[in-house]
Amino acid sequence: MFRSVTKQQDPKTEVQVTINDSVVVVAPGTTVWAAMALAGETATRVSPVNQQVRSAYCAMGVCFECMVEIDGMPNRQACLTEVSEGMQVNRQVITEATIAANPQLAHTGAEND
Ligand code: FES
Repeated sequence: MFRSVTKQQDPKTEVQVTINDSVVVVAPGTTVWAAMALAGETATRVSPVNQQVRSAYCAMGVCFECMVEIDGMPNRQACLTEVSEGMQVNRQVITEATIAANPQLAHTGAEND
């Protein structure tokens, strides 16, 4: 469904990232969201309010629907974050129980749900 408009370049200029346990190779400067779309992994998070699977909407940093966990850190905007070599990206699943245990996770974009 999605394909990169960047021509494949010298392999030394490619960046390898892992998205939900799948290895993806993309061009430097690619956003995490674009890498996810190229890998067919378009679900960014699960809503803690209604457990719906969410995905990027605006792709420009406004809606906060693209929150993912990057290298173990939650609440990172996939549409604004560029990939880096060896980056680990996972779908963000924050439940009411994890929010109760970690109140700093309360602002996950759930205000938009
Ligand atoms: S898709 Fe809207 S903030 Fe990232």
